[in-house]
Amino acid sequence: MQTIPFSTEGHEVKESSAKKNIVRSPLFYVGDKYKLMDQLKSLFPENIKTYYDVFCGGGSASINVEAEKIIMNDVNPKVIELHEYLQGNSEDIEAFIEKMYEIIINYGLSLSEKGIDLEIESLKQVYVKTYFSKYNKEPYLKLREDYNNDQSNTELLYLLLIYGFNHMIRFNGKGKFNLPVGNVDWNKNVTNALKNYASWYNQNNVELSPSLDFEDFIKSSPLEKGDFLYFDPPYLITFSDYNKLWGEKEEKRLYNLLDSLSEQGIHWGLSNMLFHKGKQNEILLNWAKSYHEYQIESNYISRFDNTIKKDSKEIYVTNYKKTNKEE
Ligand SMILES: C[S@@+](CC[C@H](N)C(=O)[O-])C[C@H]1O[C@@H](n2cnc3c(N)ncnc32)[C@H](O)[C@@H]1O
Repeated sequence: MQTIPFSTEGHEVKESSAKKNIVRSPLFYVGDKYKLMDQLKSLFPENIKTYYDVFCGGGSASINVEAEKIIMNDVNPKVIELHEYLQGNSEDIEAFIEKMYEIIINYGLSLSEKGIDLEIESLKQVYVKTYFSKYNKEPYLKLREDYNNDQSNTELLYLLLIYGFNHMIRFNGKGKFNLPVGNVDWNKNVTNALKNYASWYNQNNVELSPSLDFEDFIKSSPLEKGDFLYFDPPYLITFSDYNKLWGEKEEKRLYNLLDSLSEQGIHWGLSNMLFHKGKQNEILLNWAKSYHEYQIESNYISRFDNTIKKDSKEIYVTNYKKTNKEE
């Protein structure tokens, strides 16, 4: 196995990412690949014709890749709806951001990009770690109610994502958005991420899939040599909301598909977790032996307790060898 020397300190990874012009997705997606993108990108093939982001989530991989064409897919239609919405606003992102400020102010949500008022300052003294959530709780619940009354309003969904718990997207069984308020708000990182996303979209040839299961997506794609498929599925042995959709059956279905793509000579790369909190992904361990495996340095942060797990091993598996000229 090849190991890439890389800092495990979160801030150093960030600085390194910034140096290499790695940008953050404005979806601030749980489990996004932002901090790992410079490692992954160095392992991606050169001269990609069409890049397929099969499990795109927030799109961190897509917005940092170089390819003639980029196609994004995710089984969650709300994720695709948000990308479509942001892409539709990319031509005049400044106007979009101004419109969002207006909505934020009308709801009475905090907008720390523009400064912090006295009420927030005094909440900060008492609720050191939760002052934004204390301040935003009422307006956030109103925003959530309005969105649930008219879910065609994607701008409200985007704001729920910005102000909601851990920037997650979660709906209950009745189809209602049900996340509580988070201790987050609209700061300059949101504005920067939106501007970066817009300039990426304006400069690239980007397409969205109609939100398909990975297998249907691949089977309906006209794949050619020179294309590259990146797979970042839910990890079988970790926890996230989207892991509810994932089990051993999906894991095996994915590996069968990757084997058949290899037989067709189509290059792919897969991110996954081999060990985590004493658990081992046996299916992955056995299957990956037939391919090239690279260790990726990461700080895996649990959304449940925000602690850094040192007992994890993240890997990147490919069916091509990264040399100056791919095999
Ligand atoms: C680890 S996340 C991807 C994160 C992404 N690479 C990023 O940087 O933001 C996995 C994604 O797989 C999606 N997903 C789950 N099951 C799927 C399936 N059967 N087909 C396609 N996408 C699926 C989830 O909705 C989730 O967005």
